[in-house]
Amino acid sequence: MKILKKIGLGVIIIIIAMQFYSPTKNISPGDHTVAFTNETNPSQRLRTTFENSCYDCHSDNTAYPWYNNIAPISYWIADHVQEGKEHLNFSKWENYTLDKKVHLLEEIEEVVVSGEMPLTEYTFLHDNAELTKEDTNEIMEWVKQTRIIYQLGRQPK
Ligand code: HEC
Repeated sequence: MKILKKIGLGVIIIIIAMQFYSPTKNISPGDHTVAFTNETNPSQRLRTTFENSCYDCHSDNTAYPWYNNIAPISYWIADHVQEGKEHLNFSKWENYTLDKKVHLLEEIEEVVVSGEMPLTEYTFLHDNAELTKEDTNEIMEWVKQTRIIYQLGRQPK
């Protein structure tokens, strides 16, 4: 029993100590996805969908929830953002090659149709992030249009 108390106290001290440290935040002021939206021309509605459902993990700007102030939740969130950005970063769209862009568009369609994205642990806490059937259809149509334009070797207006 005594040893359990000591372990319990140790854990509490570690958790308190963790609150003094936090991972670097993913924040970019201004319109960080302007190159992406100029090039792929999503409708205003679709821009809002990407903003509400994807940008927190797939862009250079995360709108942090209040619980990001609590460690180790802050580390868990930072991990998702880092991993998400490695796969796809809408704020760095202009740096991808044409082939990569076409491939990413295919992947975007795949993950939204399968319901893989946005991640369940995210939609659980962000009500407006869940995609409706209408949102998914709009993404599919946008992917189709944008792919055609890329495959013609031209940049969309
Ligand atoms: C909570 C963070 C989070 C949100 C929100 C989110 N993603 Fe992701 N996404 C990730 C992570 C982490 C990965 C990499 C690991 C994985 O595939 O599960 C990923 C991977 C991906 C990939 C690559 C899949 C692959 O097979 O390599 C695509 C494409 C993608 N996400 C698109 C989206 C789109 C589109 C949205 C919005 C509708 C979205 N994600 C919302 C975290 C997120």
